[in-house]
Amino acid sequence: MINNDTSIENICTSQVNYYNMVDKRHYQFTRPQGHETRGKTARNRLRRVDNFVLMYTKSLLQKRFSKYRNVFVDVGYGEYPFTTIESAQRFHGVNKDLYIVGVEIDKERVLKASSFQKEHVDFRHGGFNLPLCEQSERASVIRAFNVLRQYEKKQVTKAYSAMLPYLTEGGILIEGTSDPLGRIWVANLFRKHHVCLQQEAVVFSTNFRCEFHPQNFQTVLPKNYIECVVAGEKMHDFFCGWKEAYRQSLYLRNWGERQIFQKSIALLAESGYPVNSCKKYTSRGYLILYVNDEKYV
Ligand SMILES: C[S@@+](CC[C@H](N)C(=O)[O-])C[C@H]1O[C@@H](n2cnc3c(N)ncnc32)[C@H](O)[C@@H]1O
Repeated sequence: MINNDTSIENICTSQVNYYNMVDKRHYQFTRPQGHETRGKTARNRLRRVDNFVLMYTKSLLQKRFSKYRNVFVDVGYGEYPFTTIESAQRFHGVNKDLYIVGVEIDKERVLKASSFQKEHVDFRHGGFNLPLCEQSERASVIRAFNVLRQYEKKQVTKAYSAMLPYLTEGGILIEGTSDPLGRIWVANLFRKHHVCLQQEAVVFSTNFRCEFHPQNFQTVLPKNYIECVVAGEKMHDFFCGWKEAYRQSLYLRNWGERQIFQKSIALLAESGYPVNSCKKYTSRGYLILYVNDEKYV
């Protein structure tokens, strides 16, 4: 049973010998790559990210490797381990054997999370060079949310390179930024393909709790796109197209934000933008923009 009591009071910070928390036989300890940042997080902040992963690539989470333990890694879970614990609850619903590892570069935060450790849920101290065992563990999905926004742009590709070796072939890295409650977010979706990390898509997500307008997503763009909404850049062209599609969809205003969102995506698809217009995603507030032409690492 997962400890559901994630109240701050219950997150004990004492009487745990940090060095006993991780089974050091599992991996070689190397200096964590990266640096500590603000640890702001919130319960259910990444619920929609988990739901997206389940919809997009459930089979990866369900995979059984003959030689390795299949691992989902939550990089930079923050001051409290809410997001990792919640992902464990969701993903164990489709594969109870999936190993869930929350990684934090801040030792105090690993200490706080230790009381939530249980079978198949582990919290480890580490950085982008993930604390996974090379001999026995491979990540099918790595999530790094609200982490790289606090880094300099030039460090972003280095971070991707550092995480790549821990992914299984075909595995995904979802890296993005959300608002404080996770109502709106944008994420890069990468897949390991022939030992390289290839960008597959950029995913835009809204839960329709706030007014939908394409412009709003510009406030939560991942670090690599922040400076790309300028003339001549593909992301700028995409936003221009989406804003125009939005304008043409406004006649549906009386039906609600969801209808405007869906119609704008249908119009984008008609105009030739490589977006996924399947109702399965659009009705749930996800826009998938395919960008499979860039090799990152
Ligand atoms: C803003 S919190 C994000 C928490 C959570 N992911 C969320 O979205 O709510 C960022 C966390 O990432 C951690 N962090 C930053 N760089 C890291 C790295 N290289 N490896 C592991 N954790 C890192 C920070 O210490 C901080 O606790």
